[in-house]
Amino acid sequence: MVSSITLASTLKEHFADQFLLGSAINSAQAQQSEEDTDTVIQQQFNTITPENELKWERIHPKPDSFDFTLADQYVRYGAAHHMFTIGHTLVWHSQTPDWVFEDEHGLPLTRDALLARMQHHISTVVGRYKGKIKGWDVVNEALNEDGTLRDSKWRQIIGDDFIEKAFVYAHDADPDAELYYNDYNLYKPEKSAGAAKLIKLLQDKGIQIHGVGLQGHYSLTHPALNELDDALNLFASLGIKSMITELDVSVLPFPSEAEQGADISQDLALQKTLNPYPDALPKAVQDALGERYKDIFALFLKHQSTISRVTFWGVNDANSWRNNWPMRGRTDYPLLFDRNNQPKVAYDALLSMPVQNLAD
Ligand code: GLA
Repeated sequence: MVSSITLASTLKEHFADQFLLGSAINSAQAQQSEEDTDTVIQQQFNTITPENELKWERIHPKPDSFDFTLADQYVRYGAAHHMFTIGHTLVWHSQTPDWVFEDEHGLPLTRDALLARMQHHISTVVGRYKGKIKGWDVVNEALNEDGTLRDSKWRQIIGDDFIEKAFVYAHDADPDAELYYNDYNLYKPEKSAGAAKLIKLLQDKGIQIHGVGLQGHYSLTHPALNELDDALNLFASLGIKSMITELDVSVLPFPSEAEQGADISQDLALQKTLNPYPDALPKAVQDALGERYKDIFALFLKHQSTISRVTFWGVNDANSWRNNWPMRGRTDYPLLFDRNNQPKVAYDALLSMPVQNLAD
């Protein structure tokens, strides 16, 4: 039982003067269905993000029906535990039903009709949680790896300004909420340049944008931290907050595309190579993960004046999506708490880091 362990400090206490410390939580966790996991969330984190419960397909599954059951539970959980509660996400190409882009005959909507639908969705969802959800990932993953705009249905039908419109609608629905652009691989120079261009465009038009979310799905070897350092400097130069929104550090090899489609359960040799730690993580790799987390957090501490939040994508290794991505059925160890909610070497490594408030 985690509750019986005496922790010298906790993540949120240790980094209290630097940034908020958080986790994505799933619907079972918002319903407090596992006591040990709930203890970890309450002890360690002061901000939460919903793993799936506010995505379009969940909250607005059909044109005329919203389903707020799970989202309400999530928001209640955040309020009950005084957590900075994040909304994720309003406009995204993924986990969004096809009907969103189609009329009643299955034909593509016009620009005006899709804008009206977008505004209705945003004003309904943001309006419902006005004052309760403090920060929104307004647009998720609108960029290609080379920094150009992804040719999503949003862009095809509305045009490049779908992003501006989403931010305007969100601000109208809750003028006090913080509004973010969120994406992965923003350490890549071309992609961070694309994000900076986007942010500047909004700023130049006087459209409210308060932060950029760098997802942070990392590994023992990626990214090169000097690239992440450059990206954080670039975003700081725009006068905008950065947040690390979906942090996890995979210890597994990254499979080739062909291997990702392979069925490892049928192939022992492949299992050994691509799923090397099915039973336990060897001490040397635990230690390497601890060192990697320390290096990553040393960079975050360097940028503490502009990083406002660091959020892990999952509470413990058992509920991490990395067990199933980029291929299914592996055993990964990307977080700070193990499958029994026990703090790992990487947790101790972070709590042993000297933390200096650069504002002092
Ligand atoms: C992206 C999304 C998240 C989540 C993760 C994988 O990063 O922003 O909502 O789907 O992928 O779990």
